[in-house]
Amino acid sequence: MEKVTCFRNIGQLIQVQSGGETPTIVKKTRCALLVSQGRVKKVIPDSEVHLHDFFREVDLAGRAVLPGFVDCHTHLIHAGNRKDEMEQRMAGASYMEIHKNGGGILSTVKATRQATEDELHETARLRVLRMMTLGTTAFEIKSGYGLDLDTEKKMLRVGRRLRKNLKIPVTLTYLGAHATPKGKTSNQYFEFVMEHLPEFRSLADGVDIFCEKGVFTVAHLRRLFLHAKLVGFHQLRAHVDEFSHQGGCHNAARLGAISCDHLEHITPHDIRALQLAGTTAVLMPGANFSLGSKKIPPVHAMLKAGVNLALATGYNPGSHPSYNMQTVLGMAQSLYRITPDQALIAATHGSARALDSHEDFGGLRLDQRADFIVLKTGDYRDLFYCVGENFVEQTYSAGKKVKGWKNPVTF
Ligand code: NIG
Repeated sequence: MEKVTCFRNIGQLIQVQSGGETPTIVKKTRCALLVSQGRVKKVIPDSEVHLHDFFREVDLAGRAVLPGFVDCHTHLIHAGNRKDEMEQRMAGASYMEIHKNGGGILSTVKATRQATEDELHETARLRVLRMMTLGTTAFEIKSGYGLDLDTEKKMLRVGRRLRKNLKIPVTLTYLGAHATPKGKTSNQYFEFVMEHLPEFRSLADGVDIFCEKGVFTVAHLRRLFLHAKLVGFHQLRAHVDEFSHQGGCHNAARLGAISCDHLEHITPHDIRALQLAGTTAVLMPGANFSLGSKKIPPVHAMLKAGVNLALATGYNPGSHPSYNMQTVLGMAQSLYRITPDQALIAATHGSARALDSHEDFGGLRLDQRADFIVLKTGDYRDLFYCVGENFVEQTYSAGKKVKGWKNPVTF
């Protein structure tokens, strides 16, 4: 007989439905969520629970239950920290100035090259446990702090170990074209990335590139994407138009990118390309907040055009060393002036779509993975009302409670 767990006495259940033109939030009150084999089987009124005989019942005490957050852009595997750089920025240096002077990404590259695979695995594992404690149930991780074959592969092997041991959905992206290592020109290094791309097919699900003035060009992006497709990568992503308008967004979208990320400087022409191509716009308000971005992405124009929006932490040791999707929701609301429903859809279903997994998770819909969070309150809007509080009481991955991590974090 099928073993069904009944999560009963739910005060407010939030699901994301995606049948129509735009996804919508569905709210139910006083209900029970039935889970079997790690998937959502049914939602019934709480008043009917006593009519059934369940394998297990869990009383959720009137709390709000919502889909786990999906974080579709992180740089979670790295060594070292960049607190000095944070202070330099506060003294007036910009992110790109620090990058040009050999700091920024390159300082993390130095530390990550020196770290052993086990050290990288342990620090990333603790970050993941904290992330899950804060409500994230699926995420993406990029390489890009090696810029040589050994370290890039080491990072992706760590990602694969995390995926296998923690048994959660982890998407891995090869970001060899993140910066140019010392001693090479960007063209020389780019040719190296192109030559070795096939070696990464068995390690990563997709590729990514940082297309920006002084980093890699649109021509690099186009060549990388065409080659990646030939090699068999299905998920093409790009950091585009973040600090200046380079045309990366519309080129990436037209070449079939699954996501274009950052997008502070995009134009109506780029928005049209995103919409026509069905490419997800991945926005990271945490980076806008930490960097004090003067320009923020044109969120309302994208919503109006029907572009799928995703919210992510963009966790990285430089511009946003936080993997907390709860604060991302609050920042999105105030920086982008979007509603709690719009932000929550983008942080769950929208972000799952950026990982090509929106059928599998992100909405807490029937037959989807039972990845959900139980809040400490009965109203999911508290996440937006009191930003900074940790409202997540319990996190469930495929119907199983995540043990989580309560100890302090070291960077
Ligand atoms: O997504 N913009 C480029 N890449 C990262 C930051 C990486 C870093 O600074 O270490 C991002 O924000």
